[in-house]
Amino acid sequence: MEIQVNKVSDSLRKPIPQDASALGFGKYFSDHMFMMNYTEDKAWHDARIEPYGPLNLDPASMVLHYGQEAFEGLKAYRGRDDGIYMFRYMENLKRLNRSCERLVMPTLPLDLVSEALKKLVLLEQDWIPRSSGCALYIRPNIIAVDPFLGVRPSGSYLFYIIAGPVGAYYPEGFNPIKIFVSDKYVRAVRGGVGDAKTAGNYAASLLAQMEAKDKGYSQVLWLDGVERKYIEEVGTMNIFFKFGDEVLTSPLTGSILPGITRDSVIKLLQHWGVKVAEKQFSIDEVVQGLEDGTVTEVFGSGTAAIISPVKAISYKGKEYAVGDGNTGPLSQKLYDHILALQYGEKDDSLGWVDRIDS
Ligand code: COI
Repeated sequence: MEIQVNKVSDSLRKPIPQDASALGFGKYFSDHMFMMNYTEDKAWHDARIEPYGPLNLDPASMVLHYGQEAFEGLKAYRGRDDGIYMFRYMENLKRLNRSCERLVMPTLPLDLVSEALKKLVLLEQDWIPRSSGCALYIRPNIIAVDPFLGVRPSGSYLFYIIAGPVGAYYPEGFNPIKIFVSDKYVRAVRGGVGDAKTAGNYAASLLAQMEAKDKGYSQVLWLDGVERKYIEEVGTMNIFFKFGDEVLTSPLTGSILPGITRDSVIKLLQHWGVKVAEKQFSIDEVVQGLEDGTVTEVFGSGTAAIISPVKAISYKGKEYAVGDGNTGPLSQKLYDHILALQYGEKDDSLGWVDRIDS
């Protein structure tokens, strides 16, 4: 399928933010977006790049009532050599298709979507910030658009990709954050949709997130939905704990998001010969380890958050410090290494990086 391109007129181009330190996350959107429609008779069709703008949606569109949708988050990076790089982006697209399957939506033709993604990034390349830690964030989204109020899978869908320059996800920048363990709410249970990247998971997290924020914490650390005992993940990232000389993260049992950065961290640690295990461990073991000093580092991983060190954890009304509160050496090494790979500055022996402008 041909991708039609309808460019925005010069007079309607938006100003590109120049102050990288004020970018924050998710506030700015570039001039174009990719769109494609699905209907049962035509399958995916009408692939096009259009000027960025509001969607024309029927108010009865099923996504607006029953949340049938899936999305992704990925980034394009501007290297110091001026190259444009993407990191393991096919993994994001494959995950998007797994989310589609869970939400009973048609899967996407990944070759076409990959071409569309690169075409959009190249068209918007002036929007890719040049500062370290900043990137063009890309948000593919698929939504159910049948105008219908009965509960069943939609027959028609809209897929679109928008993009915009971002800096650090957290207001703390890349400095350590504080997280709050929720034992009042749960995010997901096995057999649910916790391992799909779908809007409802994030809507379900908001109340806990607001309560944590009111108490001075950036994010919620979720426990398993049944026993409220085992560590699962943090609002917008997966989570790792360094216990002695071993790094632990929760296994992919169906209720947590299979993060691409999570997978990259595990593979890098293995590559470096650092002991790493995906296994269940409880909040009580974490508290014990923070108290007796065996837990020396805690960090989150995610596309938006990159590697985000944690300096304190609150559980049942008590705050526990992680180490001396500064970014630990392993978190720093991972952050530096992953960033250098993403900006095309490191030897990419694992084959994770694509230069897309040449
Ligand atoms: C990402 O890390 O890209 C995500 O999608 C998290 C997001 C909900 C901000």
